[in-house]
Amino acid sequence: MPDWLDQAVFYEIYPQSFCDSNGDGIGDLPGIVEKLDYLKDLGVNALWINPCFDSPFKDAGYDVRDYRKIAPRYGTNQDMARLFQQAHSRGIRVLLDLVPGHTSEEHPWFLMSGQAEENPYWGRYVWTDFCFQGADGLPFVGGEFPRNGTYALNFFKCQPALNYGFYQVRQPWQKPVDHPDCLATGQAIREVMRFWLDMGCDGFRVDMAASLVKNDDAQHSGTQAFWRGVRRMLDAEYPQAALVAEWGEPRQALAGGFHMDFYLNDENGYTRLARNYQGWREGRVEGQDRSFFKAGGCGIEAFWEDYLPRYQGSKDQGLFCLISGNHDTMRLRANLTPEEMKLFFAMLYTMPGAPFLYYGDEIGMRYLRLPTKEGGYFRTGSRTPMQWAPGENLGFSQAPAQALYLPVDPAPDAPTVAEQQEDGGSLLSFVRQMIALRLEHPALWSGAPFEPLTREGRLMAYRRGDILVAIAPAAGLRLKMDGAYAFLFTYGECGLESGWLTFDGPGVAVLERVRQGS
Ligand code: NOJ
Repeated sequence: MPDWLDQAVFYEIYPQSFCDSNGDGIGDLPGIVEKLDYLKDLGVNALWINPCFDSPFKDAGYDVRDYRKIAPRYGTNQDMARLFQQAHSRGIRVLLDLVPGHTSEEHPWFLMSGQAEENPYWGRYVWTDFCFQGADGLPFVGGEFPRNGTYALNFFKCQPALNYGFYQVRQPWQKPVDHPDCLATGQAIREVMRFWLDMGCDGFRVDMAASLVKNDDAQHSGTQAFWRGVRRMLDAEYPQAALVAEWGEPRQALAGGFHMDFYLNDENGYTRLARNYQGWREGRVEGQDRSFFKAGGCGIEAFWEDYLPRYQGSKDQGLFCLISGNHDTMRLRANLTPEEMKLFFAMLYTMPGAPFLYYGDEIGMRYLRLPTKEGGYFRTGSRTPMQWAPGENLGFSQAPAQALYLPVDPAPDAPTVAEQQEDGGSLLSFVRQMIALRLEHPALWSGAPFEPLTREGRLMAYRRGDILVAIAPAAGLRLKMDGAYAFLFTYGECGLESGWLTFDGPGVAVLERVRQGS
């Protein structure tokens, strides 16, 4: 395990929308470099940047046309090398987004694979052997290429599945995982990883990590075996490089060689705890009152029931991480007020695993209702330009407003970094304080022990070594203390009275056990 992960505090950047340095209306790599001091000041020490490689952008870059080339709209490979170097000089690591499961339908490998004559790329994708033959339950496309077959898709039509083989071979056109063509696919992806790692990249967030091998078993054993091979390569050649899976099941992902995994945006205890699950596909906000962080919200039972087995079952192998949201989720602010978001962030920065914050959540950026852009659909509303300061395009770009990649939040009270930096009571200031608190206390680091103290009801309380965290979304909640404690941090109305921690309103208390003689 790379030793820096224990103190890692991640920040996810959607490069289209972070900072436009050249006035063309879309964010770019030099723009990210310009904002590194802001990120360092916030306490962030690791980035995850969404795909920034050459692409037709039919799925915001998750359709890669050239794995080794930065998309011209973001800059050049030299700009990326400079970003690595500038980030490192500030103690910030950079993870890129690896999309190993599929390429763009415009990738040269794929165009070659569709030719009628056999060639070295014929086995690089999942092709059947007859023009009317379906792909054994996988979504497929036919009739587009001279080759007599159909090809399997992973997600959108623009994303043909790369061939890592079939765990159970049932059809003549399916190849086993150890077929030379499948091994060559894996080798090609490992070369892509080496290419960026050699330039200074610190690791990868891996897209759809669980689904490389087809007809896999319930544990994804075939796919796990592939990633364990990748991990052996990293351990031998790049021991400080980190791998975080988009898997959502840490017991599988970490046994499969990943250092970290995080919750997906499907219906699970975490999405129900933090946001309104019901409306996530459509951008609806009804049901928002059910979030735990609301005064009238749900209890913590469903979250613990979901989280604890995943945590317990994976904690010795790596990190199960919590996210504030990402480019696939609705924004937290769609469901929570900035005050309620503070309670959420108190949890995010005191729980085990490495915390991931999605750009803009630190100021409470809103979810906007927008027409789809680059395959975003409902996700588009969470991908709008970062709001740096009041004024033109909220400081994101000097392009005319109509030339922006996506519009900025038009609300007169759209939150901005500049305003919140001046305000000690702002959400941004709160996030900065929570990150500082985490980094100051090793008991709050990613891999340090964790034990829940309340199993049900409206008070969330847990212990991290000698530190006790209590989060109360409503008044009238209390916790019996098991010894002498002193406050490290408080927010809202809370106090210690005759051995009880009490809340007279929504609040957070972080306390440290007072040892006798100390
Ligand atoms: C997951 C990514 O996070 C999402 O944005 C993308 O559309 C799909 N994988 C397909 O690559």
